[in-house]
Amino acid sequence: MTKKFQENTIFSKDNFEKYWNDGFIIIKDMLSPEICEYSNSLARIVADDDYGQIMHLHREEYLISQSSKKIESLNNLNEKVLFIKKIKQISKHYEELLKNPDITNYLDWLYSRQMTGLLTNIFFKEPGTKYSNQEWLPHQDNNYLSNENGLYVTVNVAFNYMSEKNGGLFLFPGSHKLGNLDSEKKISYREKDGKPGNKVKEVDIKHIKPVACELKKGDVLFMHGLCVHKSSNNNSNDPRPLLSLGYIPYGEKFDPGFNSKREVKFLN
Ligand SMILES: [Fe+2]
Repeated sequence: MTKKFQENTIFSKDNFEKYWNDGFIIIKDMLSPEICEYSNSLARIVADDDYGQIMHLHREEYLISQSSKKIESLNNLNEKVLFIKKIKQISKHYEELLKNPDITNYLDWLYSRQMTGLLTNIFFKEPGTKYSNQEWLPHQDNNYLSNENGLYVTVNVAFNYMSEKNGGLFLFPGSHKLGNLDSEKKISYREKDGKPGNKVKEVDIKHIKPVACELKKGDVLFMHGLCVHKSSNNNSNDPRPLLSLGYIPYGEKFDPGFNSKREVKFLN
């Protein structure tokens, strides 16, 4: 089957080649600023005091489990019930975002496979909290799921601008061609100290110069699951809320994870 290209659109041959050569592509303004601001405001409702990573915003049971302290601190039954109602609304909203047709159509086009949704995680890097200093070590996202074909994909949505200044990502172009790399396992969810990210060996990537990834609100970064990336800490006064949506082609095997219990979500 020959690939369909539409020049001067996001479905161009250049974009397709860029994605498969570099292992990533940024699509500007894919989502509106309004949807980003609204989604961010919903996520902040369920954030803890440190604005730690929230896992699986699209799954009610995960939001309840990660907000247990907050729920416990509410004054009466009525407030608790209203909060749970809000959680239902938030998880529904994020399920819709995971199924966003602009994103999923683009993924289908890039991979020529039927994609399924796996995760919706947010990283706030909120100034003044311990996680603002969170520097991720160079890692491959596919490593967490161990898909042997490296077909996991991360779609990062910037809810605010993202640059080197506020804890942005650095990407290693072409590193996805190295395949699944050996790594050192690190705690990568609400870690107590140290730096998260299942670190790949420096020797494997030392020939590649990382590039800073600049996004503005609504820009979307499509990143191959084997593309090595890292991030800086946030020394600025600006939060860096970044939503990571995870996808994998239907039928591909993956490790669900002990805490994350990833489950396939059909997108249409
Ligand atoms: Fe990552």
